[in-house]
Amino acid sequence: MPGVFVSFEGVDGSGKTTQLELLAERLRAQGRDVVTTREPGGTALGQAVRSWVLEAQAEPLAPRAELALLFAARAQHLQQVIEPARARGAIVLCDRFTDATEAYQGAGRGLGAELVRELDRLICGGARPELTLILDLDPETALARAQTRLRRAASGENRFEAEGAAFLRRVAEAYRAIARREPERCALIAASGAIEAVRERVWRAAAARLGW
Ligand code: TYD
Repeated sequence: MPGVFVSFEGVDGSGKTTQLELLAERLRAQGRDVVTTREPGGTALGQAVRSWVLEAQAEPLAPRAELALLFAARAQHLQQVIEPARARGAIVLCDRFTDATEAYQGAGRGLGAELVRELDRLICGGARPELTLILDLDPETALARAQTRLRRAASGENRFEAEGAAFLRRVAEAYRAIARREPERCALIAASGAIEAVRERVWRAAAARLGW
């Protein structure tokens, strides 16, 4: 079978990381070659960018510097991890990709979708997954979940959850707009309810769209 690239998206607290792992487990149990990775992260450069973006820094990142770093890391991630895995026939499951930049930097930080998409075209050639699973949760529930986690997080962390409700609402709305704009690529999945129920929704959406 040919390789395939799938991204998971959603606001903080939507449960996408849990669902990505459950899908990976299910596919591996079927004997499929599965590569899981994440953004920011996934390469040494990605990890360095992750700590610049998500850890408290003595020198706070300017929003445009943050944006440029995320795209630099993505170019590295595509060349070093995602493209080779897809080419050898693996199923690549990526925790966040370019849609996260459009949602968080474009809408959340207010840099605008145009700037994000332009950089995307210049730096990453507009690369997109075959399928993007967007876990959709109302921002209030997401915020409540995320804040529980925020309280547990180490003090050196600088999480987007801390940006508050209005920020997360802009992020959630941007994801819905992306899903409406690109219905062929994106599946919007209701992320409320039990983990097992969401797992079945994710499986049905992925299996139907990818012909598994
Ligand atoms: P996430 O990967 O969801 O981490 P965790 O599983 O630890 O919650 O969080 C990464 C954070 O980085 C998330 O708050 C969204 C943010 N982010 C951006 O702002 N822009 C991006 O392009 C990406 C990939 C992530």
